[in-house]
Amino acid sequence: MLGWGAWLALSNEITGGMIIAASIIGGRALAPVEGIIDGWKSYVGAKSAYGRIQKLLHTSPLNVHRLRLPNPAGRLSVERLLFVPPPNKRVILNGISFQLSPGESLAVVGASGSGKSALGRMLVGSLIPTAGNVRLDMMDLRNWDSRQLGENIGYLPQDMQLFPGTIKENIARMNREAKDEDVFKAAQMSDIHEMVSQFSQGYETQVAMDGAPLSGGQRQRIGLARAFYNNPRLLVLDEPNSNLDTIGEQALAQALERAKQDGMTVIAITQRPALLRCVDKIMMLKDGTVAAFGSRDEVMPLITGKRPGISQHQNAPGHNLPAAQPAE
Ligand SMILES: Nc1ncnc2c1ncn2[C@@H]1O[C@H](COP(=O)(O)OP(=O)(O)OP(=O)(O)O)[C@@H](O)[C@H]1O
Ligand SMILES: [Mg+2]
Repeated sequence: MLGWGAWLALSNEITGGMIIAASIIGGRALAPVEGIIDGWKSYVGAKSAYGRIQKLLHTSPLNVHRLRLPNPAGRLSVERLLFVPPPNKRVILNGISFQLSPGESLAVVGASGSGKSALGRMLVGSLIPTAGNVRLDMMDLRNWDSRQLGENIGYLPQDMQLFPGTIKENIARMNREAKDEDVFKAAQMSDIHEMVSQFSQGYETQVAMDGAPLSGGQRQRIGLARAFYNNPRLLVLDEPNSNLDTIGEQALAQALERAKQDGMTVIAITQRPALLRCVDKIMMLKDGTVAAFGSRDEVMPLITGKRPGISQHQNAPGHNLPAAQPAE
């Protein structure tokens, strides 16, 4: 551009000032073109990455169209679960096996870090075991249609989060086509209807990203109703009472009783003894292995330390359960 300007100046067609002005204006005018040339490499890189992701999603083994089976009854079968996550290959769960019939309930207890939540995540299919199987009505969780599995499993995670939206939307798992009667049924089953009625806007109360205006216990109870939504056959509750007061714990006990009457299979992970009164069986985990498993009446004395000859590991330090707590 400068060369062309110099030639025009020598031919007395333009002045020196016009060359400078033209070079400034020309530089600005060509800036977008330069931008496109600079960004071209990134564009090509992003386009090829998008293509690779698309290919991966289409060829993923998880993408297989699975047979939609009859809805499960809730027969849970856990076979020799092993969990050794990379990179440090520490054994988190080892040789966990148990079975539950529809309508049976199990409490999982154990010290912090013993693998309770990892087991809970495996039971709902969100964590894949290194070896072993979790079967619902005989079929491995990995072979269920993922949508159908989600509809038949209720899960209350330990670090439960609510979505920004109304209480109704939160109970309905943000399904905009949810039927009001299903939302109400979940609220009734989980015994939160009275609590929701206290809010001036009831089920239309808006919940913010941080859960406001609900308290920790109220959030936990909405999370419980969300787990009950759609009448699941398997319910996994990870420390559902960690933030509850006495009324909340009574409501939870009622909810577990209703789940039992309805034939739901329930696994309740807990650090507190109150829940143990509501279950049929108890499993005690220690360092990722089963330290005790049996009916409530068999295992309670091991927890409370009332039976002579209990080995020390069964009352491991860090266990929140009190040393002597009667079952009834
Ligand atoms: N996905 C994962 N990958 C790697 N390590 C994991 C994973 N999930 C859990 N762990 C490890 O497994 C161990 C057990 O964790 P888990 O959360 O199951 O304990 P917990 O018994 O639920 O404890 P708490 O009572 O404190 O909730 C921890 O050391 C944790 O770091
Ligand atoms: Mg946990």
